[in-house]
Amino acid sequence: MVRIAIDHLCKKFSGRPVLEGVRLEVSSGETVVVLGPSGAGKSTLLRCVVGLCPFDEGEIHVNSWVLRPSPQGLGQAPQIRQRVGFIFQDFALFPHKRAWENVALAPRLVRGLGPREAWEQAMELLGKVGLRSRAEAYPHQLSGGEKQRVAIARALALAPQALLGDEITSALDPELKWEVVETLLRLKGEGLSLLLVTHEVGLARKVADRVVLLADGKVVEEGSPREVLDRPQSLRGQQFLARLLV
Ligand SMILES: Nc1ncnc2c1ncn2[C@@H]1O[C@H](COP(=O)(O)OP(=O)(O)OP(=O)(O)O)[C@@H](O)[C@H]1O
Ligand SMILES: [Mg+2]
Repeated sequence: MVRIAIDHLCKKFSGRPVLEGVRLEVSSGETVVVLGPSGAGKSTLLRCVVGLCPFDEGEIHVNSWVLRPSPQGLGQAPQIRQRVGFIFQDFALFPHKRAWENVALAPRLVRGLGPREAWEQAMELLGKVGLRSRAEAYPHQLSGGEKQRVAIARALALAPQALLGDEITSALDPELKWEVVETLLRLKGEGLSLLLVTHEVGLARKVADRVVLLADGKVVEEGSPREVLDRPQSLRGQQFLARLLV
């Protein structure tokens, strides 16, 4: 079980504040969806949690592992990345590797799994996202939805207890979105903690236990999907949602 606690996270790019004192918690088994306008800092926030982006102030706790501002290093990011899977916005699959090889790579490198074992595990994970029959395909031979599901299978390869997803449905057509949503609901049912970033209110309504609205680097709303999406309290939240629902 994984609990993520982000406390007073501040991040600047070239002196320009992008995250300003963000506080956010994902309890064990909870699904939190972060909504917000483009440039709000959503991707930066996720990247900080898995140690892909150093930050200036604050702390990130993932169970007992901690990330703090440090010019030198990643702190406990390697431990965190073994428990927390990360799905990138643009899939980030290795183009010269087949679907199953994309999924098998981390277990081979990080866990030292043998080729047979890694293949079997990759096939099982591809089965979980409904893609066993496409295991031999290269990324350029897969549809957008299939690529997204390979990326999910890959993120599951180290048996994470939490998944972070960055806009994982935004590039997909409605039916493919639905396939990804079903996969997320299944993972949620298995007890994974999910932290998802999206522009899509529909996704938030479907999967979120709690919705956080991030605007201009700050949390401006937080609550149940209904509270936040139907009755936003802040002016910024009202503006953002009004524009989305037009
Ligand atoms: N590596 C970087 N160097 C400089 N500025 C950056 C870098 N990465 C992001 N930014 C800036 O930080 C701000 C937040 O970016 P971020 O990608 O976190 O936004 P976002 O909320 O994910 O937006 P979108 O919804 O468009 O994906 C933006 O103004 C962006 O231009
Ligand atoms: Mg982004």
